[in-house]
Amino acid sequence: MDQTIKIAVVGSGYVGLVAAVCFAEMGHDVICVDNDQGKVAALQGGDTLIHEKYLPELLERYRNNKIRFMTDLGEATRECEAIFIAVGTPQSDTGDADLSYVEAVACEIARSLTSYKVIVEKSTVPVYTNEWIRRAIERNGVARELFDVVSNPEFLREGTAVADFLHPDRIVVGANSERAAALLQRVYEPLTGGEYYTRKDTVPGPCKVDAPPPLLLTSTKSAEIIKHASNAFLALKISFINAVSNLCEATDANVEQVALGIGLDSRIGPRFLRPGIGYGGSCFPKDVAAFRSVAEQLGIDFSLLSQVEKINVEQKKRFLSKVRSALWTLRGKRIGVLGLAFKGETDDIRESPAIELVEMLLAEGCTIAAYDPAAMKRAAEALPPGPNLSYVEDSYAAAKNADALVILTDWQEFAKLDLERLNKTLRYPIVIDGRNLFDPRVISEHGFTYLSIGRPAAYPLRDPSTSLPATI
Ligand code: UGA
Repeated sequence: MDQTIKIAVVGSGYVGLVAAVCFAEMGHDVICVDNDQGKVAALQGGDTLIHEKYLPELLERYRNNKIRFMTDLGEATRECEAIFIAVGTPQSDTGDADLSYVEAVACEIARSLTSYKVIVEKSTVPVYTNEWIRRAIERNGVARELFDVVSNPEFLREGTAVADFLHPDRIVVGANSERAAALLQRVYEPLTGGEYYTRKDTVPGPCKVDAPPPLLLTSTKSAEIIKHASNAFLALKISFINAVSNLCEATDANVEQVALGIGLDSRIGPRFLRPGIGYGGSCFPKDVAAFRSVAEQLGIDFSLLSQVEKINVEQKKRFLSKVRSALWTLRGKRIGVLGLAFKGETDDIRESPAIELVEMLLAEGCTIAAYDPAAMKRAAEALPPGPNLSYVEDSYAAAKNADALVILTDWQEFAKLDLERLNKTLRYPIVIDGRNLFDPRVISEHGFTYLSIGRPAAYPLRDPSTSLPATI
C-alpha cells in the first residue's frame, strides 16, 4: 500500500521549511506555503534562505518533485490531507505569544475546507490554542465533522534541525480524535516503524531501525504544555548553572568540574549545563515569557520562571563587568568581538546575547571590530557599521591591535584559533571568554590573561608574581 501522504506546511521559516523538507525525505508529497511572494520565489529558484545543515542537499533533491512552493493556501488546503501550521508566534508587549498569524491561517484554511482535513499546530503555542483554532474554523461556517485540530510540537534546535527532526527523542501528538491521531501516526510511520533508518542515504543520527523514536499520544492540551514546559525547563537548567557559575567565581571553584559532578547523576543529566552569557534565540526567551504569562492568567504562581529570566538578564551584565574588570576603563578601548549569532553553527541573531553585549560595549564607549562566521550580514542589518563598529573578515582581523578579545558565541572554529598568532595580533593578550571555549591552563601558557565563566582567572605563566599580564 502506498504510504505517501499529501501534506501542506504553512510557513517557510526555520520550523516550516525544515518540516517540509523532512516530510519529503520521509517519502511524503509536500506543498510549502508562504504568503511572502519573495520567499516563495527564492525557494523555487534554489535559495535555501537559512543556514541549516543538510537543508541545501535535501532541498536540491526534492525541489519541484516532492516539494512545491506556493503562496496559495486555498489550493494547498484542497490538495492535502494534513495541513501543518508553522507560522511565527512572536512575543507581544505583555509577554504573551501573539497568535494573530495562526488565527489568520486558520481562517484562510476554513474558507477552503470542503472535505475532511487534519489541521496540525506545529508553531509553539500556549495551551488552549488548539481549541481556539477549532472555534475559529467553526465560526467560519465549517461543519465539525469536516476537520480535526492536532497539536504536534517540534523540538528541533537550530543548526541541527534536520537531524533533530529525523532522529527525534520523541514525537508528541496531541489529538482528541482517533481519526486524526491515526493520520499523524501514518505521517510519522517511516520514523517510528524504523523503515527510514534502513535506507542507505539517510541523514545520520542516533535513531536506528531497532531503536526508532517513540510516538507519544496525548490530549491536545498536554501536548501544548509539553512544548512550553520542555523549553522552560531547559532555560531553567541554563539559568541554574549560570547562577552556580557565579557561586564558583565567588569561591574560586570551577563550574566545569561542578557541572560534570552534578551531570553524572542520571536523574540530572549532563546536557544544557554549559554556563555562558545567558540563553538567547527565537525560542527560550519568548517561550519562558509566554509560559509565565499563561500561568499568571490561570492564577498559578510560577515565579520560578521570573527568576530564570532575571538570572538570564543579570548574566549579561555580569559579563560586561568582567570585561571592565580586565580593562579597568572601557571608554575608548578597542575590543575584538568573536561571535554575533545567539549560539554557534547558526546565522540567527534573534535575541542574541552577543548582539546585546555588543550594544552594551558600544554604549560604554568601546570601539568594536566584530567577526562571526555566518551571522554578520544579519548583524549588520540590526546594528549597522559606523565609526565605532566594523565587521571584519576573520577572527585575526577582529583581534588586530585590540585591547582585548571578547568571545560571545560558541563557534567551534574559535576554539581552534592559532594562539601564538592571536597573541601577536592583539595589542594586549587578554581574552574574555563568555563561552568557555579554551582550557585556562593551555591559553595562559600561550601568554594570555584569560577570564571565563565560573572558572578561576588564568594569567600568563611567564610572570607569576603579578595578577596582571606582563605586557600591561
Ligand atoms: C531550543 C530547544 O533546544 C529546542 O528543543 C526547541 O525545539 C527550540 O528551542 C524551539 O522551541 O524551537 P534553539 O533555540 O535552537 O533550540 O537553541 P538551543 O541549542 O536550545 O540554545 C538556546 C540558547 O541557550 C542559546 O543561546 C545557547 O547558547 C544557550 N545554551 C544552551 C547555554 O547557554 N547553555 C547550554 O548548556 C545550552
